[in-house]
Amino acid sequence: MFRRLILGCAVAALALTGAIAAHAGDALVERGAYLVNGVVACGNCHNTRSPDMRFIEGMEFAGGLEVVEKPFTARVPNITPDMETGIGAWSDGEIITAIRDGIRPDGSLIGPPMPFSQYRNMSDSDVKAIVAYLRQVPAVSHKVEKSEYRMPLPPAWGPSVGSVADVPTDDPVVYGAYLAGPLGHCIECNTPMEIGRFVFENRAFAGGLHLPLGPDMVLITANITQDKETDIGAWSDAEIAAAITTGVRPDGSQIHPIMPSGFYATMEKADVDALVAFLRTVKPVVNAVK
Ligand code: HEC
Repeated sequence: MFRRLILGCAVAALALTGAIAAHAGDALVERGAYLVNGVVACGNCHNTRSPDMRFIEGMEFAGGLEVVEKPFTARVPNITPDMETGIGAWSDGEIITAIRDGIRPDGSLIGPPMPFSQYRNMSDSDVKAIVAYLRQVPAVSHKVEKSEYRMPLPPAWGPSVGSVADVPTDDPVVYGAYLAGPLGHCIECNTPMEIGRFVFENRAFAGGLHLPLGPDMVLITANITQDKETDIGAWSDAEIAAAITTGVRPDGSQIHPIMPSGFYATMEKADVDALVAFLRTVKPVVNAVK
């Protein structure tokens, strides 16, 4: 009787540890879902789109978007867990290395415009959460042809990333910088490029990056520095927050949907506020983007 009681306790304890482990796993997937479907917006590039650039339902993360630039034709790969055409056969560690170091399991370098200058600084916890989420999205069989880079790629995007600590959330400006950089890579799309590299030093967030989205379409990104004449310096915090999360400017005009407001709409208010608090600290750069 006594033995049975002890056994019973052991089973209960085991069940409890199992429950805690499952719960921790859920929390990781939940954080990953929040990031991927929100500020990180991997799907903005990796979801399959129709010729008029709309997302195709059921083809989330299945790839196929072509980004055609003079030096390259990038074809965004399938990152669903499909074994044949996606990344189902890669280990968690291999996917983390692909996201932060830009290196595939076969050692080859992943090319632009996958935003490595920013993803390198994604925290271990966040990149693990993203991978946990991607592991359980539906596998979609969709073969995407290889990209063509007509320019030399560097041997690596930098030294091996190793480990990146969590960024504290208590200072909105510090956390906002993490949201605008390593998580959301706002800085890449909104900074101009010169001779194949971003001019982060003195033109960060000044806009003017050309986004060639097909043979007939080139978008030029906006200046989001605090310059009052040529951009958002004159907008209120609420107007900036609304532009990010609804895609509508204070004058009522619509921002092109390549700016993923549909994703940003799911961001928690504290995160949007942190993003705005950080943007307020960005040095004004005069750059009228046409
Ligand atoms: C701005 C567009 C863009 C964004 C945003 C983006 N990617 Fe990519 N990604 C690419 C492109 C383009 C490639 C392929 C480049 C090449 O062919 O070398 C790629 C490659 C990859 C690969 C390698 C797959 C393979 O089969 O070679 C993985 C894994 C990946 N991305 C995951 C992610 C995840 C996870 C996110 C979000 C955290 C993300 N990407 C965000 C454009 C993007």
